[in-house]
Amino acid sequence: MVAFPDWINMRTRSGMPGPRGRFLPGGSIEFNNNPISWMTRARRDFGDVVRIDRDRIFLSDPEAVHEILIETNKSYLIESAFAAGRKGDAILTESVPSFMDIRGDVRRGATKSAIQSHLERLAKSIAAGVRERANQEVDVLREVQHILSCVNVDYCMGSDPESASISGLVEQHFWASIELVNSGETHWPWEKRLLVDRVRGINGELKEQLRSVVRRRKKEGTADHPVDFLDYLIADSNPLNESRTVSSLRLMLLGSHAIPATALTWILLHLAEEPYLAEMARQELCAARSFGQHPGEGAPFSLAVIKEALRLHPPTWVIARRTLREVSLSGYRIPAGQQLLFSPYLIHRDERSWVAPERFDPQRWLRNMPHPRYSYLPFSMGSRGCPGVHMGMMQSLLFVSEILRNYTLRMPSLHEVDERFEALLLPGGLRGAWVSL
Ligand code: HEM
Repeated sequence: MVAFPDWINMRTRSGMPGPRGRFLPGGSIEFNNNPISWMTRARRDFGDVVRIDRDRIFLSDPEAVHEILIETNKSYLIESAFAAGRKGDAILTESVPSFMDIRGDVRRGATKSAIQSHLERLAKSIAAGVRERANQEVDVLREVQHILSCVNVDYCMGSDPESASISGLVEQHFWASIELVNSGETHWPWEKRLLVDRVRGINGELKEQLRSVVRRRKKEGTADHPVDFLDYLIADSNPLNESRTVSSLRLMLLGSHAIPATALTWILLHLAEEPYLAEMARQELCAARSFGQHPGEGAPFSLAVIKEALRLHPPTWVIARRTLREVSLSGYRIPAGQQLLFSPYLIHRDERSWVAPERFDPQRWLRNMPHPRYSYLPFSMGSRGCPGVHMGMMQSLLFVSEILRNYTLRMPSLHEVDERFEALLLPGGLRGAWVSL
């Protein structure tokens, strides 16, 4: 039998606990100044559902978070830095079906079998990128990002003449988007949208270049067997139109480099911090002949190291959704138009769900279920969770394998690295090196 929410006995949003805050802005000034410390205190002092201000609620109950993620696209909406207010919501809601088609293309391009058939090529291009930057002190995040964007452009469209400038645009898009989100420019309708215009400009140029590659490829005709993601898109039995092909390529390129590069940078930092664990992973990776369809098949311990780094440092440290209609959640009636925020970073460090949550302990992943359900979400979940989970894990494993088998890491200690809670959880000012063995 379907259980209906008991609306009458539900508390309303106005009865929700939260810091008193100020007369009009409520808790928003304190929250905006330092969201992660606000969230940490709010969870400690008020529990799992806390009012931030008139329009925002912070949640840390994994069951409630799961419900929101599962119901996204129906009762909840993913917001965008480009579309604000009711008009923005309407545009975003209308675009969901076409976005889901494009997302489906990306998901199909990143399946286990698609990655498996390109494993050697992925490994080779990662090795080339890593080698090029070896033995020099570098901005680790920028360089890992550069390597991944080249690797992914190759995965998507081979070595077309435009590849270098396309991977440059993909990287620029990331840094411009971070600047835009940090600036809060879109919060205030009266502000000039200089950063929005900049990201739009980069986007326009990226699409233009992708369109020219797609047109040329279509003219040339595809290979008998698709050799890259673009071949696959063009050869699809139900031929896609040009704008969808361009959008799918763009989404794949944007999705597959910034978050994974951030994840990898934290993974490298954890490996450098724990030489004993790094040595165990190195021995396993040297002995592994292949990674099989499931990355854990050939290298379970190394995979556990990656999962553990993603637990302590999930690049997407905060996720937001907006209620599209009145909903019932954790015993509250929440009206339409509220922003709901939750933090994988905090859920991953919650001692109610994890044993010794602050300890870096890959072994926990080799035991049975190391946490209660829904308490681990570095890839989010539900209809809008990451469609590139498998590709992300494989990229990370190949990268780690290349580094540990051939180089030593020279990185600052994790305590010296600033955790920057920006649009992503970034390792601030990190410089380091991988030095040939
Ligand atoms: C370690 C690597 C990765 C991590 C930790 C990661 C994590 C995430 C997270 C947390 C989201 C947000 C979901 C949400 O708002 O609920 C996301 C979205 C997304 N990811 Fe990944 N990701 C990774 C790798 C990849 C790769 C390799 C691809 C490309 C195949 C990819 C493509 C995407 C796309 C297209 C979205 C947007 C999905 C949507 O809005 O429906 N990701 N990812």
